[in-house]
Amino acid sequence: MSTPSTLTQVVVFGASGDLTARKLLPALAGNLRAGALERPLQVIGVARRPKADAAWRDELDPWMEPALRPAWERLRPHVHYRAADSLEAGDVVQLGLELDALARDAGHDVRRVGRLFYLALKPDLFAATVRHLSTAGLLDCAPGDPAAWRRVVVEKPFGHDLPSALALNAALREHLREDQILHIDHYLGKETVQNILAFRFQNAIFEPLWSRVHVESVEITVAESIGVPSGRAGYYDTSGALRDMVQNHLLQVLSLVAMEPPSSMSGGDVRDEKVQVLRSLAPFTPEQVARDVVRARYTAGGNIERGYADEAGVAADSSTETYVAIRASIRNWRWNGVPFFLRSGKGLAKRYTEVVLRFRAPPVDLLGGAVDGELCALRPNDLRLLIQPEEGIRLGFLVKQPGPGAIMRPATLGFDYGALTGGADTAPAYQRLLLDAIEGNPTLFIRDDEVEAAWRFVDSIRAGWAAPDAPPLATYAAGSMGPAEADALFRGCEGIWGDGE
Ligand code: BG6
Repeated sequence: MSTPSTLTQVVVFGASGDLTARKLLPALAGNLRAGALERPLQVIGVARRPKADAAWRDELDPWMEPALRPAWERLRPHVHYRAADSLEAGDVVQLGLELDALARDAGHDVRRVGRLFYLALKPDLFAATVRHLSTAGLLDCAPGDPAAWRRVVVEKPFGHDLPSALALNAALREHLREDQILHIDHYLGKETVQNILAFRFQNAIFEPLWSRVHVESVEITVAESIGVPSGRAGYYDTSGALRDMVQNHLLQVLSLVAMEPPSSMSGGDVRDEKVQVLRSLAPFTPEQVARDVVRARYTAGGNIERGYADEAGVAADSSTETYVAIRASIRNWRWNGVPFFLRSGKGLAKRYTEVVLRFRAPPVDLLGGAVDGELCALRPNDLRLLIQPEEGIRLGFLVKQPGPGAIMRPATLGFDYGALTGGADTAPAYQRLLLDAIEGNPTLFIRDDEVEAAWRFVDSIRAGWAAPDAPPLATYAAGSMGPAEADALFRGCEGIWGDGE
């Protein structure tokens, strides 16, 4: 791809927030370091408090790890700060003038500047901010000039239920085309998540097995060992594990695992297939929620001294869950009858994310001559996609223990990403996503209709929780792997949750 010589301005609203310093600016520096962002670039942080460019640069310095420092030194002079309240129309008009001035001062034609507006803001500010950007003419693109693009990145949560998501999407669409809105989900930027499609559709040996014919169940676990930090409890208490993790990250991973092959890797084709999966997720009745969904919250335990209920910022009558486990069904030709076990929680024994495909047991146990069900209990074949912190792939099978008799032992074929990265972790998720946002590649961003389909499923669970005879919120001790109730989501000979080992 040729390198554009026109200027790109990345305008970050919410410049004083944690995300900007911790993730966004290091991600831009990371792209520079990787040689992926060789174009004239200006970064403009926007927040309400007045601050000099130099002061903001100084604040960002400590967030750049040593390997990023040389790239950061190159980026630093192009990093600016402008005070503005995005809810004040006049401030946004003024900001526009200052963006033009910054471009002009650096010798660029202001009619040919590409602009990415990154809304690292509270979601209730999205609609008004976009409205003011539009009124100020900041979303107008010069007709026919691809250099003068405008795009807006929005962070989750994208609403808190389907009606609010529809209202938010409609409010954004009043001022932006669909291709200008980028709903970011940082899980999609993780290399190991991107690899799900690459692994499935660039190898001929796995895809034929990838359906109800051979797969008995799928598990997606996103376990976090940290609890809910006090500073975040205010937000978290209005959200909970279902909205904070399942609506976005887990359902996105699920859609990649379950989707049909797209006709190309373009944003349109990939997302057309993902949304089909989300639409095929069977919504729950309240009775099904009582049977197939477990919600729980942690009490003190392990390294976590205070239970969730005692965190500052948690409402006295809060019923927010810090853990959720779901037995979901995808009603389509590929997956009908295959349970998808989803779980995510905070304050768990260990931090790990993985996808496990458990394959059907052989129909007959020829070697062992075992009673029915023994092989089923052994669950000999599985494929584990290790998303984080271990990054790799493991294929499990049985081998015969050398010697007389027929004792079978589990064995594993494995791949570790470290083999490709010289032992280093893969690049941070935001690095890839920011680059794609700048380059206008929407494949790894969530489209409106995906957001809406995900809420339809999640809302059916919330409706079940609100039903008069909904089972009570369970508890689990922090430092454990969650409530015992979640084990009952596996039935008969379906096995048990993985342990991340
Ligand atoms: C965020 C959630 O989207 O993802 C957090 O709001 C969660 O609650 C985080 O801790 C997990 O991200 P990662 O990349 O650390 O798994």
